[in-house]
Amino acid sequence: MSKVIAVANQKGGVGKTTTTINLGASLAVLGKRVLIIDADPQANATSGLGIVLQEDQVTTYQCIVDPSLIMSAIVETETPNLSAVPSSIDLVGAELELVSRFRREYCLDDCVKQIRDQYDFIFIDCLPSLGIITVNALTTADTVLIPVQCEVFALEGLSKLRSTIGLVKEHLNPDLQIEGIVLSMFDRRLRLGKVIVNEIRSHAPEEVYETIVHRNSKIGESPSMHKPVILYDAYSKGSRNFLRLAEEFLERNQVPVNSDDNG
Ligand SMILES: Nc1ncnc2c1ncn2[C@@H]1O[C@H](COP(=O)(O)OP(=O)(O)OP(=O)(O)O)[C@@H](O)[C@H]1O
Ligand SMILES: [Mg+2]
Repeated sequence: MSKVIAVANQKGGVGKTTTTINLGASLAVLGKRVLIIDADPQANATSGLGIVLQEDQVTTYQCIVDPSLIMSAIVETETPNLSAVPSSIDLVGAELELVSRFRREYCLDDCVKQIRDQYDFIFIDCLPSLGIITVNALTTADTVLIPVQCEVFALEGLSKLRSTIGLVKEHLNPDLQIEGIVLSMFDRRLRLGKVIVNEIRSHAPEEVYETIVHRNSKIGESPSMHKPVILYDAYSKGSRNFLRLAEEFLERNQVPVNSDDNG
C-alpha cells in the first residue's frame, strides 16, 4: 500500500516535526519504505534528519514551482529505508508566489503523484499555519495526523483545523480523512497531565492514539544531534514511545508489523 499523511496543527511547537521524524524513522526501522517531505520553511525536519543542503540541492520550494523536479529532490537519510525531500527558507516565498498561480492548491500533489508508489508511507511535515502550503499538503494527503501537546488549552485551535480540513474535503480532496490525534510531550510530573489527557480523549475518543509520547530528554536532544531518537538512543523511553506509536499506526492501518513486503 502507499499512503500520504500530512502532519498538521496550526499551533506552533506541538510536536509536528518530532512526530514526523520519529514516527517516520520508527516505521523505516520496522521495514517500511518511508519518505518525509519537509513543507516548512523553518526546515526543522531537514536539519533533524541530518541533511546538510549542498548548493545545488533541489528543495520542496523548487518542486512546488516545478513538480518535474521531485525525483531529483529526494535524498537518502542515515536511517535505512528513510528518504526525505529537504526544505529551506526559500519556501516562505511560495506562500506569496502561489497566490496568483493556476491550480495553486495542487502543486505538491503534482509532485507526490509521480513518486507515491515508491513508498509505503509519505509524511508531509507542515508549518504552523493554515496557509496555501498547508492547503497543498492537505490536498495531497490521504489523511491528517494531528499532534496535540498535553497542556492546558491543548484543544484550542483544533476546531479551526477541523474546519480547514472540512473545506479542503469539500472543494479539493473529497477523500481526505483524519488519521488520528497523537498526544505529545506528556509530563508525568504535571499535576493536570492526566486530566488533560482525559479531556482530549473525551473530545474525540476514536481518533486519539492509545500510545502517548512522553516528554523525554533524548527526544529533546536528538534534533541537535541531527538524528531520529531511535538512532540517537535506541533504548530511551522516547525511542520506545515512538516504536510503539509506529506499531499502533500500522495496526490501525491493518498493515502487518513484521512483514518484509517491499511492495
Ligand atoms: N516528547 C518530547 N520530549 C522532549 N522534547 C520534545 C518532545 N516533543 C517535542 N519536543 C521539543 O519541543 C520543541 C517543539 O517540537 P516540534 O519542533 O516537534 O514542534 P512543531 O509542532 O513541529 O513546531 P513548529 O510549529 O514550529 O513546526 C522542539 O524543540 C522539540 O525538540
Ligand atoms: Mg515543525
